[in-house]
Amino acid sequence: MKVTAIGTGYVGLVTGACLAEMGNHVVCLDVNPEKIRILNEGEIPIHEPGLLEVVRRNVEAGRLQFTTNVDMAVQHGTILFIGVGTPPDEDGSADLQYVIAAARSIGQRMTDYKVIVDKSTVPVGTADKVKAAIDEELAKRGVEVQFGVVSNPEFLKEGAAVEDFMKPDRIIVGSDDEQATLLMRALYSPFTRNHDRMQVMDLRSAEFTKYAANAMLATRISFMNELALLAEKVGADIELVRRGIGSDPRIGYSFLYAGAGYGGSCFPKDVKALVRAAQDEGIPLRVLTAVEEANERQKRVLVDKVVTRFGADLTGRRFALWGLAFKPNTDDMREAPALVIVEELLSRGATLSAYDPVAMTEAKRILGERPGLSFADKADAALEGADALLLVTEWKEFKSPDFDGIKAALKQPVVFDGRNQYEPSLMKALGIEHHGIGRGTPGR
Ligand code: NAD
Ligand code: UDX
Repeated sequence: MKVTAIGTGYVGLVTGACLAEMGNHVVCLDVNPEKIRILNEGEIPIHEPGLLEVVRRNVEAGRLQFTTNVDMAVQHGTILFIGVGTPPDEDGSADLQYVIAAARSIGQRMTDYKVIVDKSTVPVGTADKVKAAIDEELAKRGVEVQFGVVSNPEFLKEGAAVEDFMKPDRIIVGSDDEQATLLMRALYSPFTRNHDRMQVMDLRSAEFTKYAANAMLATRISFMNELALLAEKVGADIELVRRGIGSDPRIGYSFLYAGAGYGGSCFPKDVKALVRAAQDEGIPLRVLTAVEEANERQKRVLVDKVVTRFGADLTGRRFALWGLAFKPNTDDMREAPALVIVEELLSRGATLSAYDPVAMTEAKRILGERPGLSFADKADAALEGADALLLVTEWKEFKSPDFDGIKAALKQPVVFDGRNQYEPSLMKALGIEHHGIGRGTPGR
């Protein structure tokens, strides 16, 4: 089939490349010429495991191309995915300007039947707005062209995006257009052959499903983060509690890890947008409001621990930071807890030496030159002469570090473990002062 992916970010590029991998002919369009230049030079603008190989293979096979040419891209696809950003507006609601602009650019050019797919995360009712925008553009041109609008939210996780797309738990398709539904079934049939993973529903329920999924996952994390604060006070270990409750199949193990707070381009903005949308409907989502508040507090928990240990004035103190990306296996820094931690520590007079295996360029771009902040080119180098180590992102290379080396490099062996990667008993045996999240001392 002929497919166009509008927006070549995390979602659009993965969608385009993975659909090309299944034999479709895909054109990826972006308004950012720099991204298209990088892609046309055989590289990818983001760090996403496995994606470069899929992109190169399909470009070579002639099934995948990248362009800034809107005319060509709109003409090409029978199915056009809109995968542009939906960042938070000032009031927290999702800013739909990029989605509507993409819809208009389609309406300004289309000459035959198209399925327009909302892949971006968009509030309930957006499909109607997309339809209206296209209708308006067609009316301006004085032409009548049939089209279907479909909601097909994306559930991939960064760092595992290719695998998630190739082996989806489910494919949600919201549609009230029979022809569009048939085409979506055909497009996704290679992904659903062994097991029918497609759930077809009405447009609004499909749009809602995406927010509900992210809200539920964020809720689990904030719930555990709050319990972790209490566990420290009452002398319980949140890691043991996590295993204890996760073994109940009604609860399950995933997304119960207490840590330095959730970040990324989805949970923070989608929780905000759902809270805001509900407020507008007069249905305050109290649980979700608390989820967001708890996460804001949680991003400061590591700093609070540093302050308790070293005092509120950190002038003359130096800290090593391991991990800057919002999670491992990505260079995405959007809403990363590390950004809050850096700001807070610097504002208290500390100096910092930060290291991340892949997000360093992105971190430098976002944080810029700051007095007191330096970047180390290796994990070990960040430690030299520091008062303590803060583990912020649980990259694999931080999981079993050389603890003797850490002890030798730090002024005193103090580790703030923001992702509960190190066993408190082992740390004690090694003579390292360990501050985890929710790891109260049993029998204190
Ligand atoms: P992104 O910021 O990485 O990429 C968006 C791209 O769209 C940019 O390259 C931008 O230049 C381009 N763009 C904007 N307007 C355009 C236009 N009119 N025509 C062509 N290109 C245009 O965004 P992302 O992280 O891929 O997210 C996209 C959407 O998918 C958001 O709604 C997000 O919530 C949702 N989503 C993201 C993830 C994720 O893990 N990143 C997962 C699921 C859903
Ligand atoms: C999320 C959703 O998982 C995905 O389905 C959706 O499509 C996009 O948003 P992503 O943001 O890429 O994916 O990463 P995810 O693995 O969900 O992690 C989000 C944040 O939650 C990270 O900061 C991570 O560190 C944190 N997290 C995750 C926890 O603190 N504890 C956990 O148990 C799991």
